[in-house]
Amino acid sequence: MKIAMFASESNPLVKTGGLADVIFSLSEELAEKGNEVVIALPYYKTIKPEYKKSFSKIGSFTVSMSWRRQIANIYRGKIGKITFYLIGNDFYFGRDRVYGYNDDGERFAFFDLSCRALLPFISFKADIIHVHDHQAAMIPVLIKEKDMANPIYRDAKFVLTIHNPAFKGLLDRFFVSDYFGLDDSLYDSGKLRFEGAFSTLKSGIIYADKITTVSPSHRNELLESDSGHGLQDILRLREMDFAGFLNGIDYDEWNPATDKKIAKTYTAETIREGRKANQEALLKKLGIVFKGGPVYGLVSRLTWQKGIDLVLRSGRKALERGANLIILGSGEYKYEAAFEDLRREFPDTCAIYIGYSDLLAHEIYAGCDFFLMPSLFEPCGISQLISKRYGCLPIVRYTGGLKDTVNGYNYDNEDTADGVGFINYDEQGLDYGIEVSRNIYANEELYYKIIANAMAADHSWKATSELYLGMYRELTGK
Ligand code: GLC
Repeated sequence: MKIAMFASESNPLVKTGGLADVIFSLSEELAEKGNEVVIALPYYKTIKPEYKKSFSKIGSFTVSMSWRRQIANIYRGKIGKITFYLIGNDFYFGRDRVYGYNDDGERFAFFDLSCRALLPFISFKADIIHVHDHQAAMIPVLIKEKDMANPIYRDAKFVLTIHNPAFKGLLDRFFVSDYFGLDDSLYDSGKLRFEGAFSTLKSGIIYADKITTVSPSHRNELLESDSGHGLQDILRLREMDFAGFLNGIDYDEWNPATDKKIAKTYTAETIREGRKANQEALLKKLGIVFKGGPVYGLVSRLTWQKGIDLVLRSGRKALERGANLIILGSGEYKYEAAFEDLRREFPDTCAIYIGYSDLLAHEIYAGCDFFLMPSLFEPCGISQLISKRYGCLPIVRYTGGLKDTVNGYNYDNEDTADGVGFINYDEQGLDYGIEVSRNIYANEELYYKIIANAMAADHSWKATSELYLGMYRELTGK
Protein backbone atom coordinates (compact mmCIF):
# COMPACT_ATOMS: atom_id res chain seq x y z
CA MET A 1 0.00 0.00 0.00
CA LYS A 2 1.13 3.58 -0.64
CA ILE A 3 0.79 5.79 2.40
CA ALA A 4 1.41 9.54 2.72
CA MET A 5 1.84 10.86 6.26
CA PHE A 6 1.35 14.58 6.81
CA ALA A 7 2.30 16.09 10.16
CA SER A 8 4.00 19.08 11.72
CA GLU A 9 6.90 17.15 13.25
CA SER A 10 8.69 13.83 12.97
CA ASN A 11 11.76 12.13 14.34
CA PRO A 12 14.60 12.26 13.70
CA LEU A 13 14.34 15.68 12.04
CA VAL A 14 12.29 17.78 14.43
CA LYS A 15 10.59 17.00 17.71
CA THR A 16 8.73 18.96 20.33
CA GLY A 17 6.62 16.10 21.69
CA GLY A 18 5.40 12.52 21.35
CA LEU A 19 3.84 13.27 17.96
CA ALA A 20 7.31 13.22 16.40
CA ASP A 21 8.06 9.79 17.87
CA VAL A 22 4.81 8.32 16.61
CA ILE A 23 5.03 9.69 13.07
CA PHE A 24 8.42 8.15 12.49
CA SER A 25 8.18 4.89 14.40
CA LEU A 26 4.73 4.03 13.06
CA SER A 27 5.87 4.85 9.51
CA GLU A 28 8.98 2.72 9.89
CA GLU A 29 6.94 -0.23 11.09
CA LEU A 30 4.50 0.17 8.18
CA ALA A 31 7.42 0.33 5.75
CA GLU A 32 8.99 -2.69 7.42
CA LYS A 33 5.80 -4.57 6.58
CA GLY A 34 6.21 -3.82 2.88
CA ASN A 35 4.27 -0.59 2.48
CA GLU A 36 5.64 2.46 0.73
CA VAL A 37 5.53 5.38 3.16
CA VAL A 38 6.36 9.03 2.56
CA ILE A 39 6.30 11.71 5.25
CA ALA A 40 5.94 15.43 4.51
CA LEU A 41 6.88 18.13 7.02
CA PRO A 42 7.66 21.82 6.93
CA TYR A 43 11.35 22.53 6.38
CA TYR A 44 11.95 24.32 9.68
CA LYS A 45 15.15 26.21 10.27
CA THR A 46 15.51 24.10 13.42
CA ILE A 47 15.71 20.78 11.59
CA LYS A 48 18.78 19.07 12.96
CA PRO A 49 21.81 20.15 10.88
CA GLU A 50 23.21 16.63 10.62
CA TYR A 51 20.10 15.68 8.66
CA LYS A 52 19.88 18.75 6.46
CA LYS A 53 22.68 17.50 4.29
CA SER A 54 20.81 14.35 3.33
CA PHE A 55 18.18 16.49 1.60
CA SER A 56 18.31 17.96 -1.86
CA LYS A 57 15.96 20.28 -3.63
CA ILE A 58 13.84 18.63 -6.28
CA GLY A 59 11.82 21.63 -7.42
CA SER A 60 9.31 24.22 -6.37
CA PHE A 61 5.77 25.37 -7.03
CA THR A 62 3.62 28.35 -6.23
CA VAL A 63 0.89 28.14 -3.64
CA SER A 64 -1.97 30.60 -3.92
CA MET A 65 -3.55 31.82 -0.74
CA SER A 66 -6.23 34.03 -2.26
CA TRP A 67 -4.31 37.17 -3.28
CA ARG A 68 -1.00 35.98 -1.79
CA ARG A 69 1.42 33.82 -3.70
CA GLN A 70 4.05 31.87 -1.86
CA ILE A 71 6.74 29.55 -3.14
CA ALA A 72 6.98 26.02 -1.79
CA ASN A 73 10.49 24.66 -2.25
CA ILE A 74 10.47 20.88 -2.14
CA TYR A 75 13.35 18.90 -0.70
CA ARG A 76 13.66 15.14 -0.68
CA GLY A 77 15.74 12.80 1.45
CA LYS A 78 15.65 9.23 2.66
CA ILE A 79 16.02 8.14 6.26
CA GLY A 80 15.82 4.40 6.86
CA LYS A 81 13.00 3.10 4.71
CA ILE A 82 11.14 6.40 4.67
CA THR A 83 11.25 9.07 1.97
CA PHE A 84 10.79 12.49 3.53
CA TYR A 85 9.57 15.56 1.68
CA LEU A 86 10.26 18.91 3.28
CA ILE A 87 8.20 21.94 2.34
CA GLY A 88 10.50 24.94 2.41
CA ASN A 89 9.52 28.57 2.67
CA ASP A 90 11.77 30.84 4.70
CA PHE A 91 9.10 33.39 5.46
CA TYR A 92 7.00 30.77 7.24
CA PHE A 93 9.51 28.24 8.49
CA GLY A 94 12.86 30.02 8.66
CA ARG A 95 12.28 30.82 12.32
CA ASP A 96 13.80 29.80 15.63
CA ARG A 97 10.84 27.83 16.92
CA VAL A 98 8.46 25.28 15.46
CA TYR A 99 5.26 26.72 16.96
CA GLY A 100 4.15 29.70 18.97
CA TYR A 101 3.82 32.49 16.40
CA ASN A 102 0.88 34.82 15.87
CA ASP A 103 0.58 33.61 12.31
CA ASP A 104 0.71 29.86 13.02
CA GLY A 105 -2.72 29.57 11.39
CA GLU A 106 -1.33 31.02 8.17
CA ARG A 107 1.90 29.00 8.39
CA PHE A 108 0.05 25.70 8.59
CA ALA A 109 -2.54 26.76 6.02
CA PHE A 110 0.43 27.16 3.70
CA PHE A 111 1.71 23.72 4.74
CA ASP A 112 -1.67 22.08 4.07
CA LEU A 113 -2.05 23.75 0.69
CA SER A 114 1.48 22.67 -0.20
CA CYS A 115 0.82 19.06 0.83
CA ARG A 116 -2.23 19.04 -1.40
CA ALA A 117 -0.05 20.09 -4.32
CA LEU A 118 2.85 17.85 -3.35
CA LEU A 119 1.41 14.46 -4.25
CA PRO A 120 0.64 15.38 -7.88
CA PHE A 121 4.02 17.14 -8.05
CA ILE A 122 5.89 13.97 -7.09
CA SER A 123 3.33 11.70 -8.81
CA PHE A 124 2.63 9.74 -5.65
CA LYS A 125 -0.75 8.06 -5.93
CA ALA A 126 -1.40 7.43 -2.26
CA ASP A 127 -3.92 4.80 -1.23
CA ILE A 128 -4.01 6.34 2.23
CA ILE A 129 -3.47 9.95 3.20
CA HIS A 130 -2.93 9.92 6.94
CA VAL A 131 -2.92 13.35 8.60
CA HIS A 132 -2.14 14.20 12.21
CA ASP A 133 -3.53 16.82 14.57
CA HIS A 134 -4.86 20.26 13.75
CA GLN A 135 -1.85 21.40 11.75
CA ALA A 136 -2.55 18.88 8.98
CA ALA A 137 -6.28 18.35 9.48
CA MET A 138 -7.35 20.57 6.59
CA ILE A 139 -5.64 18.40 3.98
CA PRO A 140 -8.62 15.99 3.62
CA VAL A 141 -10.96 18.98 3.44
CA LEU A 142 -8.95 20.68 0.71
CA ILE A 143 -8.52 17.58 -1.40
CA LYS A 144 -12.11 16.38 -1.03
CA GLU A 145 -13.48 19.81 -1.87
CA LYS A 146 -11.17 20.53 -4.78
CA ASP A 147 -9.35 17.54 -6.19
CA MET A 148 -11.37 14.36 -6.27
CA ALA A 149 -11.54 14.53 -10.07
CA ASN A 150 -7.76 14.39 -10.26
CA PRO A 151 -6.83 10.75 -11.02
CA ILE A 152 -4.07 10.90 -8.46
CA TYR A 153 -6.61 11.47 -5.70
CA ARG A 154 -9.64 9.65 -7.04
CA ASP A 155 -9.14 6.49 -4.96
CA ALA A 156 -7.40 8.05 -1.96
CA LYS A 157 -8.82 7.50 1.53
CA PHE A 158 -8.20 9.77 4.47
CA VAL A 159 -7.35 9.02 8.09
CA LEU A 160 -7.03 11.72 10.77
CA THR A 161 -5.30 10.92 14.05
CA ILE A 162 -5.92 13.10 17.08
CA HIS A 163 -2.85 13.22 19.31
CA ASN A 164 -3.82 16.28 21.28
CA PRO A 165 -7.47 17.38 21.36
CA ALA A 166 -6.64 20.47 23.43
CA PHE A 167 -5.38 22.14 20.25
CA LYS A 168 -8.18 22.57 17.77
CA GLY A 169 -6.66 24.96 15.26
CA LEU A 170 -9.14 27.70 16.06
CA LEU A 171 -9.05 30.45 13.46
CA ASP A 172 -11.16 33.34 12.35
CA ARG A 173 -13.79 32.44 9.76
CA PHE A 174 -12.14 34.61 7.14
CA PHE A 175 -9.38 31.96 6.89
CA VAL A 176 -11.82 29.62 5.15
CA SER A 177 -11.85 31.59 1.93
CA ASP A 178 -8.95 33.96 2.36
CA TYR A 179 -6.23 31.41 3.13
CA PHE A 180 -7.67 28.03 2.24
CA GLY A 181 -9.54 29.26 -0.81
CA LEU A 182 -12.68 27.36 0.22
CA ASP A 183 -16.24 28.52 -0.15
CA ASP A 184 -17.66 30.51 2.79
CA SER A 185 -20.79 28.37 2.62
CA LEU A 186 -18.79 25.53 4.19
CA TYR A 187 -18.49 27.66 7.26
CA ASP A 188 -22.05 28.93 7.17
CA SER A 189 -23.46 25.42 6.84
CA GLY A 190 -21.62 24.47 10.06
CA LYS A 191 -19.24 21.94 8.50
CA LEU A 192 -16.12 23.90 9.35
CA ARG A 193 -17.55 25.81 12.29
CA PHE A 194 -16.80 25.06 15.91
CA GLU A 195 -18.09 27.13 18.81
CA GLY A 196 -18.41 30.27 16.75
CA ALA A 197 -15.05 30.04 15.02
CA PHE A 198 -13.38 27.97 12.32
CA SER A 199 -11.55 24.89 13.64
CA THR A 200 -9.18 22.94 11.43
CA LEU A 201 -9.34 19.89 13.72
CA LYS A 202 -13.11 19.79 13.75
CA SER A 203 -13.17 20.21 9.96
CA GLY A 204 -10.81 17.28 9.59
CA ILE A 205 -13.06 15.15 11.80
CA ILE A 206 -15.96 15.85 9.45
CA TYR A 207 -14.06 15.09 6.24
CA ALA A 208 -11.73 12.21 7.17
CA ASP A 209 -12.94 8.72 6.25
CA LYS A 210 -11.69 7.37 9.56
CA ILE A 211 -10.60 9.07 12.73
CA THR A 212 -8.32 7.62 15.34
CA THR A 213 -6.81 8.65 18.60
CA VAL A 214 -3.88 7.11 20.37
CA SER A 215 -5.42 4.84 23.00
CA PRO A 216 -8.75 3.03 23.52
CA SER A 217 -9.40 4.83 26.81
CA HIS A 218 -8.80 8.22 25.29
CA ARG A 219 -11.24 7.37 22.53
CA ASN A 220 -13.86 6.72 25.18
CA GLU A 221 -12.93 9.92 27.02
CA LEU A 222 -13.33 11.95 23.85
CA LEU A 223 -16.89 10.71 23.47
CA GLU A 224 -17.90 11.98 26.93
CA SER A 225 -18.83 15.56 27.72
CA ASP A 226 -16.62 15.93 30.78
CA SER A 227 -13.50 14.67 29.03
CA GLY A 228 -14.22 15.28 25.35
CA HIS A 229 -12.45 18.63 25.10
CA GLY A 230 -15.62 19.95 23.49
CA LEU A 231 -15.31 17.50 20.59
CA GLN A 232 -17.72 14.91 22.01
CA ASP A 233 -20.78 15.91 19.98
CA ILE A 234 -18.95 15.92 16.72
CA LEU A 235 -17.10 12.70 17.49
CA ARG A 236 -20.34 10.98 18.48
CA LEU A 237 -21.59 11.72 14.98
CA ARG A 238 -18.56 9.83 13.69
CA GLU A 239 -18.51 7.18 16.40
CA MET A 240 -18.61 4.25 13.97
CA ASP A 241 -15.56 5.56 12.17
CA PHE A 242 -13.63 6.47 15.29
CA ALA A 243 -11.05 4.12 16.80
CA GLY A 244 -8.47 4.21 19.59
CA PHE A 245 -5.16 2.50 18.77
CA LEU A 246 -2.44 2.43 21.37
CA ASN A 247 0.91 3.97 20.46
CA GLY A 248 4.07 1.90 20.56
CA ILE A 249 7.71 2.91 20.90
CA ASP A 250 10.73 2.37 18.73
CA TYR A 251 12.26 -0.82 20.13
CA ASP A 252 15.60 -0.20 18.47
CA GLU A 253 16.01 3.28 19.84
CA TRP A 254 14.78 2.37 23.32
CA ASN A 255 16.51 -0.83 24.30
CA PRO A 256 18.48 -1.05 27.55
CA ALA A 257 20.31 -4.13 26.26
CA THR A 258 21.97 -2.22 23.41
CA ASP A 259 21.65 1.44 24.43
CA LYS A 260 25.00 3.13 23.79
CA LYS A 261 23.96 6.25 25.65
CA ILE A 262 23.76 4.68 29.11
CA ALA A 263 26.61 3.82 31.51
CA LYS A 264 25.88 0.08 31.52
CA THR A 265 23.59 -1.91 29.27
CA TYR A 266 21.31 -4.47 30.90
CA THR A 267 18.42 -6.87 30.43
CA ALA A 268 15.68 -8.09 32.76
CA GLU A 269 18.19 -10.66 34.05
CA THR A 270 20.88 -8.09 34.81
CA ILE A 271 18.69 -5.20 35.94
CA ARG A 272 20.13 -5.19 39.48
CA GLU A 273 23.66 -4.44 38.34
CA GLY A 274 22.37 -2.25 35.55
CA ARG A 275 20.23 -0.13 37.81
CA LYS A 276 23.04 0.35 40.32
CA ALA A 277 25.65 1.34 37.75
CA ASN A 278 23.34 3.62 35.82
CA GLN A 279 21.99 5.27 38.93
CA GLU A 280 25.43 5.97 40.31
CA ALA A 281 26.57 7.39 36.99
CA LEU A 282 23.47 9.57 36.71
CA LEU A 283 23.75 11.04 40.20
CA LYS A 284 27.45 11.64 39.72
CA LYS A 285 26.94 13.36 36.39
CA LEU A 286 24.31 15.66 37.89
CA GLY A 287 26.37 16.33 41.01
CA ILE A 288 23.74 15.14 43.46
CA VAL A 289 23.96 12.63 46.26
CA PHE A 290 21.92 9.63 47.32
CA LYS A 291 20.27 10.04 50.72
CA GLY A 292 18.20 6.88 50.91
CA GLY A 293 16.10 7.12 47.72
CA PRO A 294 14.09 6.42 45.79
CA VAL A 295 15.32 8.32 42.74
CA TYR A 296 12.41 9.89 40.85
CA GLY A 297 12.71 11.13 37.28
CA LEU A 298 10.57 13.16 34.93
CA VAL A 299 11.10 13.87 31.24
CA SER A 300 8.34 16.04 29.88
CA ARG A 301 7.15 19.22 28.31
CA LEU A 302 6.58 21.44 31.33
CA THR A 303 2.98 22.36 30.62
CA TRP A 304 -0.30 22.32 32.49
CA GLN A 305 -1.35 19.09 30.75
CA LYS A 306 1.45 17.13 32.36
CA GLY A 307 0.57 17.54 36.04
CA ILE A 308 3.62 19.65 36.80
CA ASP A 309 1.82 21.45 39.65
CA LEU A 310 1.41 18.11 41.40
CA VAL A 311 5.05 17.19 40.85
CA LEU A 312 6.18 20.46 42.40
CA ARG A 313 4.14 19.91 45.56
CA SER A 314 4.48 16.16 46.08
CA GLY A 315 8.08 16.24 44.83
CA ARG A 316 9.07 18.66 47.58
CA LYS A 317 7.62 16.30 50.20
CA ALA A 318 9.52 13.37 48.71
CA LEU A 319 12.73 15.40 48.72
CA GLU A 320 12.18 16.26 52.36
CA ARG A 321 12.12 12.53 53.08
CA GLY A 322 15.44 11.84 51.41
CA ALA A 323 14.45 11.06 47.82
CA ASN A 324 16.17 12.37 44.70
CA LEU A 325 14.26 14.24 42.02
CA ILE A 326 15.59 14.68 38.48
CA ILE A 327 13.68 16.81 36.00
CA LEU A 328 14.35 17.19 32.28
CA GLY A 329 12.16 19.41 30.14
CA SER A 330 11.15 22.87 29.13
CA GLY A 331 7.92 24.72 28.68
CA GLU A 332 5.92 27.26 30.63
CA TYR A 333 8.15 29.76 32.34
CA LYS A 334 6.37 29.54 35.70
CA TYR A 335 7.17 25.83 35.92
CA GLU A 336 10.76 26.26 34.82
CA ALA A 337 11.21 28.95 37.49
CA ALA A 338 9.47 26.90 40.20
CA PHE A 339 11.76 23.94 39.51
CA GLU A 340 14.79 26.22 39.71
CA ASP A 341 13.54 27.34 43.12
CA LEU A 342 13.13 23.73 44.20
CA ARG A 343 16.67 22.94 43.13
CA ARG A 344 17.97 25.88 45.13
CA GLU A 345 16.13 24.52 48.15
CA PHE A 346 17.50 20.97 47.70
CA PRO A 347 20.83 21.48 45.93
CA ASP A 348 22.22 18.10 47.04
CA THR A 349 19.36 15.90 45.94
CA CYS A 350 17.41 17.64 43.21
CA ALA A 351 18.63 18.25 39.65
CA ILE A 352 16.84 20.25 36.98
CA TYR A 353 17.82 20.43 33.34
CA ILE A 354 15.75 22.99 31.47
CA GLY A 355 15.80 22.13 27.77
CA TYR A 356 16.02 18.81 26.05
CA SER A 357 18.87 16.34 26.00
CA ASP A 358 18.36 13.01 24.36
CA LEU A 359 21.39 11.65 26.18
CA LEU A 360 20.11 12.69 29.59
CA ALA A 361 16.66 11.27 28.78
CA HIS A 362 18.21 7.84 28.16
CA GLU A 363 20.24 8.14 31.37
CA ILE A 364 17.15 9.07 33.38
CA TYR A 365 15.18 6.08 32.13
CA ALA A 366 18.08 3.76 32.92
CA GLY A 367 19.06 5.30 36.24
CA CYS A 368 15.86 6.28 38.07
CA ASP A 369 13.74 3.98 40.20
CA PHE A 370 10.45 5.65 39.37
CA PHE A 371 9.19 7.86 36.57
CA LEU A 372 6.59 10.56 37.30
CA MET A 373 3.69 11.01 34.90
CA PRO A 374 0.73 12.47 36.78
CA SER A 375 -0.92 13.98 33.69
CA LEU A 376 -4.20 15.85 33.80
CA PHE A 377 -5.00 14.19 30.51
CA GLU A 378 -2.85 11.98 28.31
CA PRO A 379 -4.11 10.70 24.97
CA CYS A 380 -1.45 8.00 25.08
CA GLY A 381 1.90 9.00 26.53
CA ILE A 382 5.20 7.62 25.34
CA SER A 383 7.46 8.05 28.36
CA GLN A 384 5.66 5.49 30.50
CA LEU A 385 6.21 2.93 27.76
CA ILE A 386 9.90 3.72 27.56
CA SER A 387 10.30 3.73 31.32
CA LYS A 388 8.65 0.31 31.56
CA ARG A 389 11.09 -1.08 29.03
CA TYR A 390 13.97 0.30 31.10
CA GLY A 391 12.51 -1.05 34.34
CA CYS A 392 12.01 2.45 35.71
CA LEU A 393 8.57 2.09 37.23
CA PRO A 394 6.05 4.69 36.04
CA ILE A 395 3.85 6.50 38.56
CA VAL A 396 0.86 7.61 36.52
CA ARG A 397 -2.51 9.17 36.92
CA TYR A 398 -5.09 6.83 35.44
CA THR A 399 -6.15 8.83 32.41
CA GLY A 400 -6.20 8.04 28.68
CA GLY A 401 -3.33 5.87 27.52
CA LEU A 402 -1.77 5.85 30.99
CA LYS A 403 -4.77 3.85 32.16
CA ASP A 404 -4.35 1.42 29.27
CA THR A 405 -0.64 0.80 29.72
CA VAL A 406 0.08 0.83 33.45
CA ASN A 407 -1.27 -1.65 35.95
CA GLY A 408 -0.65 -0.04 39.30
CA TYR A 409 0.45 -1.97 42.36
CA ASN A 410 -2.42 -2.26 44.84
CA TYR A 411 -0.80 -4.44 47.54
CA ASP A 412 -2.47 -7.51 46.11
CA ASN A 413 -1.28 -7.87 42.54
CA GLU A 414 2.48 -8.30 42.52
CA ASP A 415 2.18 -10.90 39.76
CA THR A 416 0.71 -8.44 37.31
CA ALA A 417 1.54 -4.93 38.58
CA ASP A 418 4.00 -3.02 36.41
CA GLY A 419 3.95 0.44 37.94
CA VAL A 420 1.97 2.71 40.22
CA GLY A 421 -1.33 4.41 39.45
CA PHE A 422 -3.68 6.85 41.13
CA ILE A 423 -7.02 8.31 40.16
CA ASN A 424 -7.58 11.79 41.57
CA TYR A 425 -5.89 14.72 39.93
CA ASP A 426 -4.77 16.43 43.10
CA GLU A 427 -1.86 16.58 45.49
CA GLN A 428 -3.24 13.74 47.58
CA GLY A 429 -3.45 11.62 44.44
CA LEU A 430 0.23 11.93 43.67
CA ASP A 431 1.13 11.75 47.38
CA TYR A 432 -0.61 8.39 47.41
CA GLY A 433 1.34 7.29 44.33
CA ILE A 434 4.60 8.32 45.97
CA GLU A 435 3.64 6.49 49.14
CA VAL A 436 2.99 3.28 47.17
CA SER A 437 6.32 3.73 45.41
CA ARG A 438 8.10 4.07 48.77
CA ASN A 439 6.53 0.85 49.94
CA ILE A 440 7.58 -0.96 46.78
CA TYR A 441 11.07 0.45 47.11
CA ALA A 442 11.35 -0.67 50.72
CA ASN A 443 10.75 -4.29 49.69
CA GLU A 444 13.53 -5.32 47.35
CA GLU A 445 11.92 -8.54 46.22
CA LEU A 446 8.68 -6.79 45.38
CA TYR A 447 10.52 -3.93 43.65
CA TYR A 448 12.34 -6.30 41.29
CA LYS A 449 9.23 -8.42 40.74
CA ILE A 450 7.30 -5.39 39.52
CA ILE A 451 10.27 -4.27 37.44
CA ALA A 452 10.34 -7.71 35.80
CA ASN A 453 6.65 -7.38 34.95
CA ALA A 454 7.23 -3.92 33.47
CA MET A 455 10.17 -5.06 31.37
CA ALA A 456 8.24 -8.07 30.05
CA ALA A 457 5.42 -5.97 28.57
CA ASP A 458 5.33 -5.57 24.79
CA HIS A 459 4.89 -1.95 23.70
CA SER A 460 6.45 -2.32 20.28
CA TRP A 461 4.53 -1.22 17.19
CA LYS A 462 3.93 -4.79 16.10
CA ALA A 463 0.33 -5.09 17.24
CA THR A 464 -0.77 -1.49 16.70
CA SER A 465 0.60 -1.21 13.20
CA GLU A 466 -1.63 -4.18 12.33
CA LEU A 467 -4.63 -2.23 13.59
CA TYR A 468 -3.78 0.71 11.36
CA LEU A 469 -3.16 -1.62 8.42
CA GLY A 470 -6.50 -3.31 9.05
CA MET A 471 -8.19 0.06 8.93
CA TYR A 472 -6.33 1.04 5.76
CA ARG A 473 -7.35 -2.24 4.12
CA GLU A 474 -10.96 -1.83 5.12
CA LEU A 475 -10.95 1.63 3.54
CA THR A 476 -9.16 0.78 0.33
CA GLY A 477 -10.29 -2.81 -0.19
CA LYS A 478 -6.63 -3.72 -0.80
C1 GLC B 1 0.51 14.00 22.22
C2 GLC B 1 -0.21 13.48 23.44
C3 GLC B 1 0.45 12.22 23.99
C4 GLC B 1 0.69 11.22 22.88
C5 GLC B 1 1.45 11.87 21.74
C6 GLC B 1 1.68 10.92 20.58
O1 GLC B 1 1.74 14.55 22.59
O2 GLC B 1 -0.29 14.47 24.46
O3 GLC B 1 -0.33 11.64 25.00
O4 GLC B 1 1.40 10.11 23.36
O5 GLC B 1 0.73 12.97 21.26
O6 GLC B 1 0.51 10.36 20.10
